[in-house]
Amino acid sequence: MKVNTSGEILLDTRAFLVSETDEKGIINFANDEFCHYAGYTVEELVGKPHNIVRHPDMPRAAFKDLWNTIKSGKKWRGFVKNKTRDGHYYWVFATVYPFTNCDGEKGYISCRRTISDMEKEKYEKLYKEMRVGER
Ligand SMILES: Cc1cc2nc3c(=O)[nH]c(=O)nc-3n(C[C@H](O)[C@H](O)[C@H](O)COP(=O)(O)O)c2cc1C
Repeated sequence: MKVNTSGEILLDTRAFLVSETDEKGIINFANDEFCHYAGYTVEELVGKPHNIVRHPDMPRAAFKDLWNTIKSGKKWRGFVKNKTRDGHYYWVFATVYPFTNCDGEKGYISCRRTISDMEKEKYEKLYKEMRVGER
């Protein structure tokens, strides 16, 4: 795994990190790539709230927007900075989809891929400003 001097994990260009939750955001599944970068086994993640990977730099408003959007049945897209088990971080562009399984239970799936350095710079700055406003 590539880590830069500021503790950022650099995702492979083709990395595709997937996780699935129930209606409340409890993890039901995570693919190998999600587990690899987050630093957990799938067994450790299943049953845990998804904020297990939340990074303190993320503004509350981003997740408020995410939940409002997906609860209304729409998909949400956005830039997310996640924390790894050992305190490193990585940036992704995430798309979160609401779905209903074959038993009629609602849930959500998030698909993530890497972002550019310019996008990282932009969202690092924007989220910092948003957090100041939240205090
Ligand atoms: C399918 C799905 C995927 C999610 N993925 C992430 C994620 O990668 N990182 C993250 O911080 N929150 C993610 N969340 C949002 C969390 O559930 C949670 O709202 C967020 O971490 C903020 O934590 P808090 O609600 O305790 O403040 C996801 C939610 C869903 C439904």
